[in-house]
Amino acid sequence: MSPVDGDAVERIHRDHARMLEMIDRIRAECGQRNTIQHCNDCHAPHRAVCQGNIDQLIRGFIEATMKHSLIESMFMDDKVPAAHRAAHNQAHMVIAQQLKSIRVVLSEDGNYVHAIDGIDEIHAALISHFRDFDLPLERYLQETDLAPQSGWIAGTRCISENASTPGHTGSEPCSPR
Ligand SMILES: [Fe+2]
Ligand SMILES: [Fe+2]
Repeated sequence: MSPVDGDAVERIHRDHARMLEMIDRIRAECGQRNTIQHCNDCHAPHRAVCQGNIDQLIRGFIEATMKHSLIESMFMDDKVPAAHRAAHNQAHMVIAQQLKSIRVVLSEDGNYVHAIDGIDEIHAALISHFRDFDLPLERYLQETDLAPQSGWIAGTRCISENASTPGHTGSEPCSPR
């Protein structure tokens, strides 16, 4: 069941705020990014703990972002023009690819400095995505929210129009438009 559209917009905003907050937390975990290129060069005594934290935070961020894309795709069903839906889902695929590359860095390389560089790129991509795709989606959802519900209001108008037509009682079903 899809939520009422006002709730959908609220959910989108909440998810975006959480994703950005997670990015801030990931970036804040490493204080060595300006001085080293690889975690192996880090001499901080807490290196293992910090790597574990970053790993967990990044995996959580990837999961939250993928889930958010799926939720937006669900909100789009029947609510937006097909062209927007196709382009928006394609843009989500591009972000998913970027997230996948970060996951590869975590699994194969273990260089969290590099992984956080990837998070910087994702951050820039998300800011553009919010502006270019999510804002238009929110407008479509808000328009749907304001539009008369099909059926009930359309049917009422149709009956009242029939009522003023000679030979009609006003209670006939609407003819298709
Ligand atoms: Fe989106
Ligand atoms: Fe979004």
